[in-house]
Amino acid sequence: MSLQIRDLYAGYGRLEVLHGVSVAVEPGSIAAVVGANGAGKTTLLRAVSGLLRASAGTIRLGDRDVTRLGAESIAAAGLAHVPENRLVFPSLTVADNLTLGAWTRRRDRTALAQRRAQVVEYFPHLAERLGQPAGTLSGGEQQMLAVGRGLMARPSVLILDEPSLGLAPRVIREIFATLARLRSDEGLGILLVEQNVRAAFKIADHAYVMDRGSVLMEGEPTALLDDERVQQAYLGGGYVRVSDESANERPEAADAAKPESLPGPAR
Ligand SMILES: Nc1ncnc2c1ncn2[C@@H]1O[C@H](COP(=O)(O)OP(=O)(O)OP(=O)(O)O)[C@@H](O)[C@H]1O
Ligand SMILES: [Mg+2]
Repeated sequence: MSLQIRDLYAGYGRLEVLHGVSVAVEPGSIAAVVGANGAGKTTLLRAVSGLLRASAGTIRLGDRDVTRLGAESIAAAGLAHVPENRLVFPSLTVADNLTLGAWTRRRDRTALAQRRAQVVEYFPHLAERLGQPAGTLSGGEQQMLAVGRGLMARPSVLILDEPSLGLAPRVIREIFATLARLRSDEGLGILLVEQNVRAAFKIADHAYVMDRGSVLMEGEPTALLDDERVQQAYLGGGYVRVSDESANERPEAADAAKPESLPGPAR
């Protein structure tokens, strides 16, 4: 099932954050969305999962228009949202956290147990920790649990908000390798929001660069890494905007580039 976001407008109260964003995720593919802090990446994911109402534009899941549906209906239609900050329930066990992710098919205990076994197979680290409170897991394990919980409902489309945040490179590689495996094994369509451009572009089939509520560029990840504008934005330190005279009026934008998570020189 594909996810098609067309010309989406959304925001908070009177503040419009997304000004006509179009992003597509095909089944069995990974689309990466990168952009500086405040670009609207999280807002985009919230709008897609129904936590935030779009003011204009359309969101389609497969052949269904889900633009006006609430979060529960969108989840039931096949979309799973793994929000930022890996919000696991710390006092519940790993197993119970997983079960909560399967709320749409809670009554079928056999199917639930089967799915949990599959999810644990994707994230073997969770296997020995099923009875342990989720709060006692390491950051990487909590992120695996957050993704695993999203998988429990057998979604067709998975959207993730900065899953690499604060994790060691080895753990990031492991989680991203699992995402790549889910793409092929389950034909999952994945929308991956990331500040870690290098890691995201390595596994993505298509990439989008967002800037202040709009898609500035899109294309093949390798082509984007070679693009001078992407290099200026992500490799040069200061955040230089294209055709934007107001760039100098926003000195905070220079901080926005989180240099520790940005790609090295383009190869
Ligand atoms: N609940 C909210 N109420 C009002 N404004 C908000 C709210 N959440 C986000 N914003 C504003 O919307 C804009 C986009 O924020 P958003 O969180 O979508 O950016 P982002 O690209 O995810 O940034 P980051 O990389 O820091 O996660 C920002 O200007 C932010 O201040
Ligand atoms: Mg965000």
